[in-house]
Amino acid sequence: MPNNSGKTTSIWMEQANVPVASSLAENIYADVCIVGAGIAGMSTAYLLNRAGKSVVVLDDGVIGGGQTARTTAHLSNVLSYRYSELERIHGQERVKLIAQSHTTAIDTIEAIAIQENIECEFARIDGYLFPHNPASVKEIHQELAAVHRAGLADVELVQQAPIAGWDTGVCLRFPQQGQFDPLKYLAGLATAIQRRGGRIYTHTHVNKIQGGTTTRVETSNGFVVTADAVVVATNSPISNLATMHFKQAAYLTYVIGAKVPRDSVTTALYWDTLDPYHYVRLQKLDAEHDILIVGGEDHKTGQANDADARYARLQQWTQARFPMIEEITHRWSGQVMNADDGIAYIGKAPFDSENIYIVTGDSGLGMTHGTIAGMLLTDTILGRKNTWAEVYDPARARMGAIADLISENLNVASQYLDWLKPGDVDTVEKIAPGTGAVVQRGLTKVAAYRDEDGHLHEHSAVCTHLNCIVNWNSSEQTWDCPCHGSRFDACGQVINGPAINGLTPVTQKSVS
Ligand code: FES
Repeated sequence: MPNNSGKTTSIWMEQANVPVASSLAENIYADVCIVGAGIAGMSTAYLLNRAGKSVVVLDDGVIGGGQTARTTAHLSNVLSYRYSELERIHGQERVKLIAQSHTTAIDTIEAIAIQENIECEFARIDGYLFPHNPASVKEIHQELAAVHRAGLADVELVQQAPIAGWDTGVCLRFPQQGQFDPLKYLAGLATAIQRRGGRIYTHTHVNKIQGGTTTRVETSNGFVVTADAVVVATNSPISNLATMHFKQAAYLTYVIGAKVPRDSVTTALYWDTLDPYHYVRLQKLDAEHDILIVGGEDHKTGQANDADARYARLQQWTQARFPMIEEITHRWSGQVMNADDGIAYIGKAPFDSENIYIVTGDSGLGMTHGTIAGMLLTDTILGRKNTWAEVYDPARARMGAIADLISENLNVASQYLDWLKPGDVDTVEKIAPGTGAVVQRGLTKVAAYRDEDGHLHEHSAVCTHLNCIVNWNSSEQTWDCPCHGSRFDACGQVINGPAINGLTPVTQKSVS
């Protein structure tokens, strides 16, 4: 197979045809203002709008331009945590509700796609969880009992996954899973929202959210949205500096797309039991080929800059199991917010003022968690009872997750030692065009990026969230914060919260 590294874009971004929206240009009112036009924000806006509420959606980029464009869009009730682990943390009754909510989310996406006539390539398929080595077969058997206790009675043990030429060993078959094209789905939601009078504004950066009987959402262009409620659906909440960011951890995950002959791999979802695990699905390419999508190799955001090695390991893993691959066509990375207890946080923002709601902690299942958020937040805002509310309550604390919580926060605390380390290079002269590096300058640190034309762009390397030192990500050309996952483009503009503001420009520039 040619050693082709592929295009650095997700398959969905390449084909995206989401409606174009304008930026906010006046002060407006709506029943509910939703910040973030990804799967969670758009699902919430759609369901509220359908229930009769007036909605305004704001996004600082384009519709679906954040992590929804970077997902592999597995629609599943197989979570990143094993059901046996979820049972230990949440208890058996809550785990039944967790399984039910993800199953319902898949059903809801299917129903909306049919009702709104959205051509998003939704398909019902099986999912297979297989052991990553012979020693983990025991885990498969234990998990079967746990998923049955969770109410997923039709999950069964099979002797191997249906992959020709590769014996995966015994695995669990989860029927009635799904897959789709997430950006085509969001395009359909956007059209439906706008048809019912909902308003969507893109390229509109929110810089302040204020709760209360009447909430205020202030944007950087000076215009304000007032609303009875605000939903913050920004992957990582930007409405509160601290509360949620100690309960979840940001990870980057890597994906490759490989061209394979049509129907040479059975269309299904596949996961192994490794930590971090591999995840696999197929996407139609043309009459003769499919794209095999394979992800894994996760690390904490901002704590590694070795993407090429991770893509190479993904390629090796894939070639060893799918020798029919002809060419690597795509590669990309996405950010996952891992909740300390394995499921999303959806509901009223804890320790915040009135009428602010959040959805975060996707935990690797952003498509179903985002859809659950749409259903749950719609019920909450409309004053309807929802049986999942307590399970997903952002204020919850599960004692069974305390070890993970402590471990992740010790990791965050250790990142502040970066203040004591020297810069990546001792002078900006050593920064090649198209790359960035942190440079020590006096008592502070500078995030210096030299563009392809040789011009130097210098910003403070101090993250505007809670003052960790950002690191250069050479693969994505971003500055990534190792503490809570804020990310900034090469020129310092914020592209992922919890930071609201970009990196501070350095006024006294070095000679380049
Ligand atoms: Fe919290 Fe940077 S994301 S300090």
